Amino acid sequence: MSTYAFDQAWQQEQGRLTALEVVYDGASRRLLDGLGLTTGWRCLEVGGGAGGIARWLADRVGERGHVLATDIDIRHLDGHGRTNLEVRTHDIVSDPLDEAAFDLIHARAVVEHLADRDLVVKRLAAALRPGGWLLIEETDFGGVTAGLLAAYANVPEAQRGAVERIYLAVADVFCAIGADPSYGRRLVDVLTDAGLAGVAAELHAPVVSGGNEQWTRGSVEQLAGRIVASGEASAEDVDWFLAATAEAGFHYLPPLMVSGWGRRDPDKP
Ligand SMILES: C[S@@+](CC[C@H](N)C(=O)[O-])C[C@H]1O[C@@H](n2cnc3c(N)ncnc32)[C@H](O)[C@@H]1O
Repeated sequence: MSTYAFDQAWQQEQGRLTALEVVYDGASRRLLDGLGLTTGWRCLEVGGGAGGIARWLADRVGERGHVLATDIDIRHLDGHGRTNLEVRTHDIVSDPLDEAAFDLIHARAVVEHLADRDLVVKRLAAALRPGGWLLIEETDFGGVTAGLLAAYANVPEAQRGAVERIYLAVADVFCAIGADPSYGRRLVDVLTDAGLAGVAAELHAPVVSGGNEQWTRGSVEQLAGRIVASGEASAEDVDWFLAATAEAGFHYLPPLMVSGWGRRDPDKP
């Protein structure tokens, strides 16, 4: 059973996935470059979404390198003609995955959705070549983090409560289907338990303005019915949030993105 909360067939899904790239690709690219990404590397992009990172990786590794970009649903994932980019329909939980095959594996906002997420991280670690790097980036917006995110909204205290309720409600929707809205907090432990070396992590938290950021807004719009059904937020909260996030004067924090990385020991084949 899939634990992915979002519907790839939703008519604005391509835009929602692209908006996620607009907010987080810059930080992801810096981290990927920092791991030594270079021409000739073999890379795996897991749950590639709209394909922004997959295409960028393909351009970085060049014709001598190769990028395999996977997703359970590849309708929004297009290589735009790159010959070193293979797009494959693939479930990272259950479909076969070569071991010791990749110099670099990247997954962003994917593993948190999977019920067997810690096992998937171990699977990804086993798919690394000796010396290869795994970069996993996962959100945190549940529990106390919902209050922290709301504190950054430049609105009166009463409306900050609506922001917190919205994040708590989306977290509730995730938890109800077996996903983890604060998986980012666990990344250091999970990467360490997967046997990786040099494990470290950092947060990316850009303050955005309404109208310019469509990922949080699109997620709330798509999940609106389930948000209200959770009982954590009202239909009025949803309407207010959708209106506020369309206004350029509204500043807020989307979910924190926690980036964690680690390396397969080069001396242990
Ligand atoms: C929130 S999107 C993130 C997309 C992309 N990684 C990004 O950050 O721009 C999550 C993606 O994971 C994919 N996904 C969900 N469950 C998956 C699974 N079991 N195996 C592979 N991909 C999965 C979804 O189809 C979706 O494209």
